[in-house]
Amino acid sequence: MYKSFTCISSIIFIISITYIECNGQNKDEVCYGEFGCFKKAQLSMDIKAENVFGHYPDTPEKINAKFHVFSCHDRYNPTILPYNVTEKDFHNLNYDPKKRTIFIIHGYVDYYTQFKWMGDLKDLILRAKPCSLNVIVVDWRGGSMNVDYLQSSSNTRLVGAMIAKFIEKMNNVYKTDNDHYTIMGHSLGGQISGFTGKHLRNPKARLILGLDPAGPAFNDVSEDGRLVPDDAKLVVSIHTNGGKNVLDGFGTLNPSGHYNFFPNGGETQPGCNPVSGIAAPLTKGAYEGFQMTVACSHLFVAYKLMKYDESKDDDFESMGYRCKNYEAFKAGHCGNCREGSDDCKPFGRWFDWWQTQSLSKEWREPIIYYIDTQKDQPLSYFFYQIKLRTGSPFPTFDGRLSMNITGSLRNDFSENILMDRKFEPNKEYTYLYKSRKSLGRIESAYVTLTNKVLPKVVAVSMDKAITAIPELNSEVTSADLPSLIKSRIIVEEIQFNYLNGYSESKRHSLSSVLRSRNGPVQVTNKDVTHFPKLKSFNNIEIKLIINETHVG
Ligand SMILES: *[C@@H]1O[C@H](CO)[C@@H](O)[C@H](O)[C@H]1NC(C)=O
Ligand SMILES: *[C@@H]1O[C@H](CO)[C@@H](O)[C@H](O)[C@H]1NC(C)=O
Ligand SMILES: *[C@@H]1O[C@H](CO)[C@@H](O)[C@H](O)[C@H]1NC(C)=O
Repeated sequence: MYKSFTCISSIIFIISITYIECNGQNKDEVCYGEFGCFKKAQLSMDIKAENVFGHYPDTPEKINAKFHVFSCHDRYNPTILPYNVTEKDFHNLNYDPKKRTIFIIHGYVDYYTQFKWMGDLKDLILRAKPCSLNVIVVDWRGGSMNVDYLQSSSNTRLVGAMIAKFIEKMNNVYKTDNDHYTIMGHSLGGQISGFTGKHLRNPKARLILGLDPAGPAFNDVSEDGRLVPDDAKLVVSIHTNGGKNVLDGFGTLNPSGHYNFFPNGGETQPGCNPVSGIAAPLTKGAYEGFQMTVACSHLFVAYKLMKYDESKDDDFESMGYRCKNYEAFKAGHCGNCREGSDDCKPFGRWFDWWQTQSLSKEWREPIIYYIDTQKDQPLSYFFYQIKLRTGSPFPTFDGRLSMNITGSLRNDFSENILMDRKFEPNKEYTYLYKSRKSLGRIESAYVTLTNKVLPKVVAVSMDKAITAIPELNSEVTSADLPSLIKSRIIVEEIQFNYLNGYSESKRHSLSSVLRSRNGPVQVTNKDVTHFPKLKSFNNIEIKLIINETHVG
């Protein structure tokens, strides 16, 4: 929502806002030469009481943005150019205009060397083989190191204009166009990326990577006041510390890009204290508070997720999955992903894969992708979506199905999977299994039921169970307790969809369906039902047909 003050109404506030000048031509703007004119920042209701007054950006001299230019040939000794660089200054630059260029921008109470992440990221990009990008680190500490967060957030518009102007000059000197550039920013830097992009049109910038774009002061402003998909040909964001208001998180839950990753739900990260947002700064004092906040969900985890490409280590090939919401993702509802579709996207590979991507034709609105990560390295999990389909008939059974599984890569590592469900006939039950080790293709499952009343498990032959299915009633012997009689369900099949893997063919080749060729299998609390390892696979159908049964 816009709220531009006229001069008359600002007089009411003049005691507080001493820097308002009423004698200029545009009374509600400040003009900074080549960077243009700026109104006061939009008022955002998320900072309520603090945010009675909009702020103008500080002057360019105060913000004093510096551009540290690195190239594949000059990884450690940047040429530092000022915000008011002239085209002439580019002539002696050790810069390779044939390679694309990425700008990296920090956030609040941060500067180039403050939290170290910018240098790490720069090194990561420049050490990649092949090295394919120039890196320009933008240091705007004159505008970010403010006790007043709202002043810094207002400054983002001017820093965005400075970077856009810088790119315009580079385009003139190197005969490039905006498509040559990627802009990546953390927090307020994420918002700066958006403001930079808004100035770059015809064509737009190739890619914006928003690393937990700032929420406070941006959550509820209009689209021209925050990072939005329209700001580049492709806008991809990671949200790690989002909140609905300043007390919840320092990022935003508004998806800022075309494609948006919400690791672990996007609000707090494993190993981080949920204390976040502006609450810490308010109680701890700005710098210490923000370091606390910035240090975990909002920056360090966000940046760790961007830095480590674990696909190189253990074939993680992590994917984020589009899902209605995080609860649905955690419940295993989302595991389908057609090749090349928007159903899932690689999580990682920010500096190679995403550089070459474009918006899909099916894209209509900002898409959120979910993925869970671990606290420590390796950060990634191997994900399997489990779909268990029941047959009939059996009475509704409200209990626990325990399953342990082994796969083609590991048959000595399996965790017990517990599905607490109200099992009904002819239904599908899903589960998201996150494994710390790659199991490969799931080939075998031991399944048993636990009755909440009598959690006793007795192993008997599964052959009996199968042959008994047509005459369920007679199969239950009179010796069984009534509670045991109900403790059975009929399982048609168990499907294991492998969710990692960049290509659909890879995901398919590691997915499987376990079922008995003899038909549905009865799983009871008396038996351990083994869906066994198979003799042959049918790779095309991705169905494993069990043609033999074993006692568990
Ligand atoms: C750039 O700005 C600085 C002040 O921040 C000034 O001293 C310098 O002369 C300016 N350079 C140009 C080329 O305008
Ligand atoms: C899996 O379940 C079966 C049957 O309950 C049991 O014998 C086996 O030890 C279990 N394996 C693991 C790794 O838990
Ligand atoms: C399944 O097993 C039966 C008997 O054990 C055998 O006759 C049949 O050929 C098997 N089918 C397949 C597809 O292996």
